[in-house]
Amino acid sequence: MMEEGKYNMDKVMFDYANAEGFVQKDAIESMKEAALSAKQTLVGKSGAGNDYLGWLDLPVDYDKDEFKRIIAAAERIKSDSEVFVVIGIGGSYLGARAAIEFLRHGFYNNVSKDIRKTPEIYYVGHNISSSYISGLIQVIGDRDFSVNVISKSGTTTESAIAFRIFKEMLESKYGKEGAAKRIYATTDKERGALKKLADDSGYETFVVPDDVGGRYSVLTAVGLLPIAVSGADITALMEGAAAMRKTCLEKDYYDNPAVMYAVLRNILYNNGKSVEIIANYEPSMHYISEWWKQLYGESEGKDHKGLFPASVDLTTDLHSMGQFIQDGARIMFETVIEIDDDECPIKMTEEPDNMDGLNYLSGLTLDAINKNAMKGTRIAHIDGGVPNLLVKVKDKSEYSLGELFYFFEFACGVSGYILGVNPFNQPGVEDYKRNMFALLGKPGYEKEKEALLSRI
Ligand code: PA5
Repeated sequence: MMEEGKYNMDKVMFDYANAEGFVQKDAIESMKEAALSAKQTLVGKSGAGNDYLGWLDLPVDYDKDEFKRIIAAAERIKSDSEVFVVIGIGGSYLGARAAIEFLRHGFYNNVSKDIRKTPEIYYVGHNISSSYISGLIQVIGDRDFSVNVISKSGTTTESAIAFRIFKEMLESKYGKEGAAKRIYATTDKERGALKKLADDSGYETFVVPDDVGGRYSVLTAVGLLPIAVSGADITALMEGAAAMRKTCLEKDYYDNPAVMYAVLRNILYNNGKSVEIIANYEPSMHYISEWWKQLYGESEGKDHKGLFPASVDLTTDLHSMGQFIQDGARIMFETVIEIDDDECPIKMTEEPDNMDGLNYLSGLTLDAINKNAMKGTRIAHIDGGVPNLLVKVKDKSEYSLGELFYFFEFACGVSGYILGVNPFNQPGVEDYKRNMFALLGKPGYEKEKEALLSRI
């Protein structure tokens, strides 16, 4: 069965042929029963965390009226704002940033408005850094801007602090009423401080569905509004996700790419690999890796179990982390995400004096050079004892990205159930908050504060 190794779909393909030397002959067949039972637990909504499975059907079952409102709000923001500020953290931020940078590029904000045609987009509320926030205030200057504050709970400290600051900026610039027209709140449909504030102040609101957790929320208004403001086609994004959903639900075992990915991760984990490194060869995929790390880290890292999800940007990090991957402790496997299509065919030219010795590359596109670097690196890593999985994405289109998001989400659910954890909670995230609240003197945390102060 291992010989097959490749599973072609529309736009996203999973290939594990280069991990086969690292897994026992019958390992995949042996995991079949557990994996299909994990898949059934997921789609039958019968396992731990089953209150949070709304994302499974989102691509085909979403609020069409809200979807239209998202598109209309995005048009309004594009027409009245030079800058769009997205406030959120974790699952309330990473998906949007991942999509926007994947679909456009890392210089999105730096190209001229004539080329970009949409507002500059900045992210805040994902740290508590005063210099980061003052830097952003300087960037906005006296230009017109709007804010999308995103928080499912409506109480997250980092994003609430940032929102207070940017709300005050908007109110002093446009007055309370004017500011209210430039604030878009994405939150719970009825609970939380943000929902109350939004209703009282007359902000337009969008909903994070009850049954969708933060890290699975990119295809709700959480991701869709910022993505639409960047000019992307969110209908195509949903269509891609719907196509992958069909594949994930309908395909059985060997021909189900998400199930195969989940299986390979668990086999490698059981074989002593404790780290999965996701590797990209395109800087515009940096935040796809960040989104993926949150998805897998928060979903699987619990009960003292789980692969540690790490990432490298290549070839950049071959000059830093490359040594460790090639030759350090053999604790990891690598999952490469490759974008198939060369959308920007810059070619190497021939120089008469060939002083830099690069004429052997003349006529090649940079993409061809990059792909050869990738192939060479994958083989070197395999030879160095690092199993290699490949996720191949056809192009940088919205449709392909929709497939990619859904592929990783579905695989994560199956993988978590195979591992034996609840992939849809995050109890560990609360511990730092309790200490932070106590140290900051939040009412109700007085006892904890005393205990903490004696320790640091
Ligand atoms: O995935 C998650 O649940 C978390 O990362 C949340 O998205 C993050 O903590 C932000 O929470 P909230 O949207 O409630 O502000």
